[in-house]
Amino acid sequence: MNQTDKVFLITGGSSGVGKATAIGLAQKGAKVVIVNRNAAQSQQALKEIAHRTGNDQGTYLTADLSLQSSIRNLADEFKRKYDNLHVLANCAGAIFNQKQITSEGIERSFAVNYMSHFVLTNQLLDMLKASGPSRIITVTGNPSFLKNAKVNFDDLQHLNQFNGMMATANAMYARQIFTFELAKRLKGEKVTANAFNPGVIKSNLTAHSPWYMKLLAVFYKPFEKDVCGVSTYLSTSEEVQNVSGRFFNHNRNIIPFHEKFDRKAGEKLWSMSEELSLTDF
Ligand SMILES: NC(=O)c1ccc[n+]([C@@H]2O[C@H](COP(=O)([O-])OP(=O)(O)OC[C@H]3O[C@@H](n4cnc5c(N)ncnc54)[C@H](OP(=O)(O)O)[C@@H]3O)[C@@H](O)[C@H]2O)c1
Repeated sequence: MNQTDKVFLITGGSSGVGKATAIGLAQKGAKVVIVNRNAAQSQQALKEIAHRTGNDQGTYLTADLSLQSSIRNLADEFKRKYDNLHVLANCAGAIFNQKQITSEGIERSFAVNYMSHFVLTNQLLDMLKASGPSRIITVTGNPSFLKNAKVNFDDLQHLNQFNGMMATANAMYARQIFTFELAKRLKGEKVTANAFNPGVIKSNLTAHSPWYMKLLAVFYKPFEKDVCGVSTYLSTSEEVQNVSGRFFNHNRNIIPFHEKFDRKAGEKLWSMSEELSLTDF
């Protein structure tokens, strides 16, 4: 399928899973728009993507995804600059060792790793619907961590007992449940929503993480990839054009987590997320 006339927005496109997705898409001739906080890093990433793929059509937008005001500006800027959005790839993420509260009153790990995906998706949903068929893909993680995924509704943001790795995992579970709930809400629309495990992708994620994560990163180094096959596949393949509400492993296989989807948890997470959102959608 020709990807050249489509618009792809990739959060976290300057590094890790986002960049590996951008490379995969650029190889297919796509125009990618990447998002991160730092313009110089985006420019550097786009240079690398162009060098790797021969596709220099990539552009960038800058936003701090920990702040909903910045996400709103990002969505507005995107809508001013582009007429369509065919794929939104929610790939940004970060690990925080300590609890921090943003100026908007949200715990930062939760803000970046979950709320940003919820808010940006909802801000762009009208455009995705108008551009349909379109797709939303969201990174979650290794299925062995997801098989018993449950969100801690009593302390969604880990405000009472903060632990960086637990907060990261809880946000990952929330992204998984969010994806299934989103797919349910998008039934009848020409927009699909799927979650994916990227596999082992070259990353900066552990740069500020605890020592044991750094050690784990050394172990995984030989297996690291810098192109993400599954996110590229989910963004472009006709095979999955109408598939929605599924979890795809790095090898493109569906793991049937949707069968265990707890609809009540999906609705509860959605309404709690709306309460934490500073804008009505
Ligand atoms: N890498 C893997 O193998 C792997 C495997 C499974 C799951 N994951 C998940 O994938 C997600 C991303 O990991 P990664 O490996 O891609 O990490 P990474 O290499 O550190 O990249 C993170 C990206 O997110 C952006 N970002 C972080 N905070 C941001 C903010 N406040 N505002 C805007 N952009 C922000 C970063 O840009 P700036 O910092 O420059 O703003 C960067 O582009 C995480 O949730 C991780 O758990 C990764």
